[in-house]
Amino acid sequence: MSVEIQAKPVTTKTIRERKGGEPVVCLTAYTAPMAKMLDKHVDLLLVGDSLGMVVYGLPTTIGVTMDMMVAHGAAVVRGTSHACVVVDMPFGSYQESPEQAFRNAARLMMETGCAAVKLEGGCEMAPTIKYLVERGIPVMAHVGLTPQSFHAFGGFRAQGRDEAEADKILHDAHAVEEAGAFAVVLEGTMEPIARKITERLHVPTIGIGASPVCDGQVLVVDDVLGMFMDFKPKFVKRFAELGPMVEDAAARYAAEVKARTFPATEHCFGVKPKA
Ligand code: KIV
Repeated sequence: MSVEIQAKPVTTKTIRERKGGEPVVCLTAYTAPMAKMLDKHVDLLLVGDSLGMVVYGLPTTIGVTMDMMVAHGAAVVRGTSHACVVVDMPFGSYQESPEQAFRNAARLMMETGCAAVKLEGGCEMAPTIKYLVERGIPVMAHVGLTPQSFHAFGGFRAQGRDEAEADKILHDAHAVEEAGAFAVVLEGTMEPIARKITERLHVPTIGIGASPVCDGQVLVVDDVLGMFMDFKPKFVKRFAELGPMVEDAAARYAAEVKARTFPATEHCFGVKPKA
C-alpha cells in the first residue's frame, strides 16, 4: 500500500522562518486551475492586483476593485492546498485610515479564505500595518517601486538610483518590519540597496526586479509563461512561450471548423465511427 505524503500547508509563520534559508518561491495566480497547477511548486501564491492588467486589460492596477480581489482570491484559495495564499489590497481600499484598511482586509480574509493580505507603502503605511497585525491580520508589505503609485512616480522606474531614494527605501523597509509585516516585497530596486535591506531585516525580502540577493522571488505568472505580450519588463524571464501556442491553437481550430473537419466522428453523439 502506498501512502501519499501530503506536504504541510505553508503559513505566514513558515514564510517568516525562511529568512536567510532556502529561497522563498512565489508566483501570482488569479484563477483556481492555475493555482492548482502551481501549488506544489511554490511556497506562496499572490493574488496580485496585477490582475487588473493581465486579466482585465486595464492600463495600470489603479482601477482594480475589492470585488475583483474577492472573486479571484476565493478562486485561488479553492485551487490551493499547499501554498500560502496572500491577496493584494487594491488602490483606495486601505490608504484612508487604519479602520478602513481593517474593514477591507477582514473582508478579503473572510470572503476568500486567504492567509494574509499585501499592501503597498513604507513609513506612511506602517501605522496601518501595525493596526492590522495587532488585530490578527498578517500583512505582507511592498516597498521600492509600488505600482499603485504609478502616477505619483510618473511611470514605472526602478528605485534607489541615488542616495536619497536608497535611504527612503531602507527607512520604508525598516518601518514595515517594525510594524509587524511577516515579509516584504521589494520591487524594482537597485541591487546594492536590496542587499543592504535583506542583510538588515529579520523578515524575508521577496524580490521582483531586486536581484537574487533577496530571500525569495516573485513574478507575475503570465510573464513567466509568456502569456502577457503587451510589454516585458527587464526583470522578467519567460520560462515558456505560451502566447504564440495559444494563437496557433486558435488558428488551427478556426481552420478545422471552417473545413468541417472538426468535430470529427469521435467527438459526436449518435454517429457511428467509420469502419
Ligand atoms: O500585483 C502583483 O502582482 C504584485 C507583484 C509583487 C508581483 O504586487
